[in-house]
Amino acid sequence: MSPPPLHGPTALPAGWSARVAEWIDARIAQAPLGRTVAASEMYPLLDGVITADGLGVESAWRRFTDAVAPNSIGLDSERFLAFIPVSPSAAGVWMEAAVGAATFSAESWLEAAGPVAAENQTLRWLADLMGLPAGAGGCFMSGGSIGNLSALTVARDQCAPGRRTVACADTAHASVFNSMHMLGLTDVVVVPTGSDGRFTGVALAAAIGERTDIGIVVAAGGSTNAGVVDDLAGLADVCERLGAWLHVDAAYGGAALLLPERRALFDGVERVNSIIVDPHKWLFAPEGSCALLYRDPNLARAVHTQHGPYIDVLHGDEPLWNPSDFGYQLTRRATGLPLWFALAVHGVDAHVQAVRVGVELATAAAAKLAATPGVSLVMEPMLGVVMFRREGWGAAEWKAWGDGLLRDGVAFVAASTWKGEPVGRLVFMHPRTPTTLIDEIVASLSDVS
Ligand SMILES: Cc1ncc(COP(=O)(O)O)c(C=O)c1O
Repeated sequence: MSPPPLHGPTALPAGWSARVAEWIDARIAQAPLGRTVAASEMYPLLDGVITADGLGVESAWRRFTDAVAPNSIGLDSERFLAFIPVSPSAAGVWMEAAVGAATFSAESWLEAAGPVAAENQTLRWLADLMGLPAGAGGCFMSGGSIGNLSALTVARDQCAPGRRTVACADTAHASVFNSMHMLGLTDVVVVPTGSDGRFTGVALAAAIGERTDIGIVVAAGGSTNAGVVDDLAGLADVCERLGAWLHVDAAYGGAALLLPERRALFDGVERVNSIIVDPHKWLFAPEGSCALLYRDPNLARAVHTQHGPYIDVLHGDEPLWNPSDFGYQLTRRATGLPLWFALAVHGVDAHVQAVRVGVELATAAAAKLAATPGVSLVMEPMLGVVMFRREGWGAAEWKAWGDGLLRDGVAFVAASTWKGEPVGRLVFMHPRTPTTLIDEIVASLSDVS
């Protein structure tokens, strides 16, 4: 019986890979800003794709290039300034393709010693940037949400009975609140931040007073909405006094640890119990990568290791470094390899320069916005996020502004709110974002149609 045609060297026509490589090269050269479409327009484009006999690779690939890919907004476009962009390096994109092709069993050392060692080398590099002790370690996961959930699961399990209350700022990321909900952490002290959006040790101490039931404190190493790094040293002092676990969500801002001129913002990071940094945000890895580190990874191992007759062999007699022991995921891609490869190819200094461009663009944009009549900054940017007001604009005008910029192919922006007030928000990250885009955006604030 001849095997079905899915695998092996003749599964696709000879030379096919060059076509895909060409598409990837073009994407790396210039990611399109793209577009969004209504469901009523989109689904018909996919009619008849899944059939009993298949379309053949030419026709199937055309559906991808003509219908699927163009109907998306380029998160990797240098004109994507909304939410938190992703601007993967060329080396990262190609290593991601290799990781997909190899399907490393990167959940375990036994199956993937090489990929896991390379990931651990990258984690160690990050831990050194933070000043974490030699014993610190963890794993890469698929994103910040699952990273926060995994870390907070370990934190919860360390809490003594009656000390399961969590304290976090009103600026904490949605995934922190969702994680607490999923983990049954229902007692939460949400500490209000002031006009600077910074969660401080003083504010935490004031909010909790004489309470002794705080077992976990969650801080941000770059809040998503405003890009503010919390007072990690002050919060660590309070945690030490309470014996509480300090988790830092540096999914977005952790990359700024690379910048000597911003490093002081992170003072105290060396005292965390757990921390996440997403390489797919500001460390130029493709989508799907979160570095999760614990001061004492053995605590995580006790919580996350999965047991079963068919997988106990992974644990061996000596404790082996299985990434799946440190976060809630068993089968996993080696999501740390793209960053590892880009670091290996270009070195750390190129990454420092690339992160710095984001801060410089944000600083330049803030200066131009502040000098624009009728526009004022919500705050000076600490990292790469700029928030601003425009006299007379409410939610409807901000929405029209974003729609217009996308329609005209200028940029993808998404308005936000600050303390309930509708505001403009720009996030600079892509090192190839032209400074002229700032001028185009400033000009767009004069009228909305
Ligand atoms: C500070 C912070 N934490 C967590 C997340 C969630 O990360 P992910 O989207 O990778 O799940 C984000 C996403 O933007 C973030 O900015």
